[in-house]
Amino acid sequence: MSQIQEEMKKRRTFAIISHPDAGKTTMTEKMLLFGNLIRSAGTVKGKKSGKFATSDWMEIEKQRGISVTSSVMNFPYKDYQVNILDTPGHEDFSEDTYRTLTAVDSVVMVIDGTKGIEAQTLKLFKVCKMRGIPIFTFINKMDREGREPFELMEEIEETLNIETYPMTWPAGMGKRFLGVFDRQNDQFVHYTGNEEEKYIPYSELDQHPELTEDATYQEAEEEMELVVEAGDTFDMEKVMRGDQTPVFFGSALAPFGVETFFNSFIDMAPEPAPRKSTEGIVSPDREEFSGFIFKIQANMNPQHRDRIAFVRICSGKFERGMDVTLSRTGKTFKLAQSQQFVASSRGTVEEGYAGDIIGIYDPNVYRIGDTIVTGKSKFEYDELPQFPPELFKKVTAKNVMKAKQFRKGLEQLVQEGAIQLFKRYRFEDYIIGAVGELQYEVFEYRMKNEYNVDIELTPLGERIPRWLKEDQVDESMFDERNMLAEDREGNPLVLFKNDFSLRWFKDKNPDIDLIDLFEVNEYNQTLNS
Ligand code: G4P
Repeated sequence: MSQIQEEMKKRRTFAIISHPDAGKTTMTEKMLLFGNLIRSAGTVKGKKSGKFATSDWMEIEKQRGISVTSSVMNFPYKDYQVNILDTPGHEDFSEDTYRTLTAVDSVVMVIDGTKGIEAQTLKLFKVCKMRGIPIFTFINKMDREGREPFELMEEIEETLNIETYPMTWPAGMGKRFLGVFDRQNDQFVHYTGNEEEKYIPYSELDQHPELTEDATYQEAEEEMELVVEAGDTFDMEKVMRGDQTPVFFGSALAPFGVETFFNSFIDMAPEPAPRKSTEGIVSPDREEFSGFIFKIQANMNPQHRDRIAFVRICSGKFERGMDVTLSRTGKTFKLAQSQQFVASSRGTVEEGYAGDIIGIYDPNVYRIGDTIVTGKSKFEYDELPQFPPELFKKVTAKNVMKAKQFRKGLEQLVQEGAIQLFKRYRFEDYIIGAVGELQYEVFEYRMKNEYNVDIELTPLGERIPRWLKEDQVDESMFDERNMLAEDREGNPLVLFKNDFSLRWFKDKNPDIDLIDLFEVNEYNQTLNS
């Protein structure tokens, strides 16, 4: 095996998705703890960490107490090199979150066992499904009284349209929580309530009557038998296609079941996969380096006006100082400044392989979706999906003398992909589309602090954007209610006031094709697969 093959096979690059408050941060902390402790003390028995420092590069994050940026955490665990891409938990930041999902090879879905599937999980899940990303499920908060496990399985299967395969099965919950049956390792993982997890092989269970004679245990054992007999069989191919999800139960806070989960997950999770490009499939062990930019962030450090492009390495070996070509323009750059992200601290990275995420200094030349390569062929990876904004506002500079900075700020922040820019059709009015309200707050704050422009935002409310074919545009059909606009590339679209207006319009104009951005993505995806 070449060094490149050896290294890339060790990579496990994944994101944790959940609805806010389901326990994603707690789970991430526990995983980091495994990584750090393994490295320093060679043991994973340490529990009860303090909160991991969250990124604090922006004042607004402190004010709101939430993390609005995605960061990347990496650490060695056993024989693996783990890359966790953090996705902002706040529901307003879903566009950024969505895009992060293009840079991972698998996903851990954390579900709050007291709540089940929540809105945000559903949205993110759909994106994973669309992209065929393997999904591993952790049902959290078993230390609290929650929903019945069978009910949760059924909900996942029905709401998300995916088969479930319980890898572990819980005995009780809340105060009665005894632990989980670990099907993979034929053992009962006993929750003792303190820091230790006790592993009892099935063959030794008869030595533990205090456990096996407990009514909660016996009930769970019967359920377990039912799961084995009547449940789906484990099918790795289905898991890899995203058609079956291995399910684990536990508590990220206790912590309990996290280690059992993580060990199984890390062995099962896929290594970096080949990716589609304009010149066919590119293998991750290809000698030449290649990668794509899935995120650009300006001013991460307020002292230096820097822009950082996040690159997912897809093949070959990255070395600091290497020359790469930007496929879109054919221009060559030296990657002298490169960074790896560990929460808020940034260290310099010297080398990287497929699956790794690096930050490179962006002298204002990169765009989201750009491919960088070495070697002769200048291919491009598949375009990144765009996601339809839901909220729209008109934006103007309060002071007309600031028009130049206004446009510059607008342009740069749009390039980062946090917001989408539109114009009213044949007007110079700028309209901003975002997935949620918080993005506007961040936008306003950054325009003022980084570009020194006070802006005025006039809400247009929630709108449903539908793209039109150029030759079907008839201005007389639209007004303020169903507003005609154009996107950054000049493509016409209608911002429908609501679902009712959209349906009414469709009924009246059956010949006009209305295109949903999400459908366009899905359509492209199907075409390419
Ligand atoms: P998020 O990143 O998905 O938004 O969730 P986060 O980990 O911040 O967890 C949300 C809340 O749920 C936190 O409580 C956290 O302590 C709690 N939590 C996480 N996992 C478990 C679990 O397994 N069992 C129980 N009982 N609670 C859990 P908080 O009160 O909002 O914050 P904190 O003061 O505890 O930090």
